[in-house]
Amino acid sequence: MFHTVLCDLLGIELPILMGAMQGAGKPRLVAAVSEAGGLGVLPTYGEREADLVRQIEETRALTTKPFGVNITPLGAKFTERRAAICIEMGIPIVTTGLGDPGPRAVGDLRAAGIKVIPVVPTVRHALRLEAEGADAIVASGSEAGGHVGQVATLPLLPMVIDAVKVPVVAAGGIGDGRGFLAALAMGAAGIQLGTRLICTEESAGGAWYARQILATSEEGTIVSKSLTGKTVRAFATPEVKAYEAARLSGATAEELKQMERNIRQGRHQDDAYDGHHQAVVGQIAGMLNDPACIKPAAEVIREIVADAQRMADRLAKVVAS
Ligand SMILES: Cc1cc2nc3c(=O)[nH]c(=O)nc-3n(C[C@H](O)[C@H](O)[C@H](O)COP(=O)(O)O)c2cc1C
Repeated sequence: MFHTVLCDLLGIELPILMGAMQGAGKPRLVAAVSEAGGLGVLPTYGEREADLVRQIEETRALTTKPFGVNITPLGAKFTERRAAICIEMGIPIVTTGLGDPGPRAVGDLRAAGIKVIPVVPTVRHALRLEAEGADAIVASGSEAGGHVGQVATLPLLPMVIDAVKVPVVAAGGIGDGRGFLAALAMGAAGIQLGTRLICTEESAGGAWYARQILATSEEGTIVSKSLTGKTVRAFATPEVKAYEAARLSGATAEELKQMERNIRQGRHQDDAYDGHHQAVVGQIAGMLNDPACIKPAAEVIREIVADAQRMADRLAKVVAS
């Protein structure tokens, strides 16, 4: 029932992509999502070249199903080197993070037969990347965890669908069967999940990450430049909130830099760390409150599909009556 053009394009059973997740999205989770019929995606942001190669090999040892690699465009050299690794290692699908990978990297990847799927925050970016040769587009709303633009998924998705001819995938704020079905109903060819997959048994995020998500309400995230220098949705810790308050009340560049240094020290800490973990997360953290939601990724995906199926059946009856 949920077989879409995206499934045919990528050779997958379910139109569900794993959003690349620096920190949480290591080979175990990538393989689990692909084994469940979706598309697992490895991040390259923060990964050294040798680590990426090792993680591709590790993922291949865990699944024979297709999986992708995400390239966050951090300058032409970084993007082109990561693209070369994907080509050398025969990766079938590359997604690119917020930002423009540039026509050269997209051209090289496509010339090697790799499907390229950029993640975009606006119609303008969608049109540019379609013109550069993208095979599909992920429209990512501001509810998402990670780097975000200013437009929410509900308005962004139909506008991108209207603007481009290639299949469009919805990302940002989707955490269950309701979001999946709504995205398909709006014309999306599939969805991309990030935050929901941090609360899985295969996530490499660490126990504190899932705990912090369980304790976070829908108001517990904030968009700030303090973590990476670009607008990122993250946990609204006291430090990040203080940074944003200082920024709005005219703190000097030097004062803000000092605060950024402290915040960035709080990233990627282990469970023994007694300060505030600074990490990215989406607004659907507010939907995840019950420790029982931490389960194998395959189960999460099965439930999303089964719930969407039930709701589609119910909706069909409502429409028919
Ligand atoms: C912990 C985390 C790390 C992320 N890292 C990346 C990344 O390295 N590259 C990228 O393109 N997107 C990254 N994202 C964005 C996700 O791939 C995905 O598009 C987003 O999480 C979808 O929104 P959601 O969190 O509401 O599901 C990250 C998101 C999270 C939550």
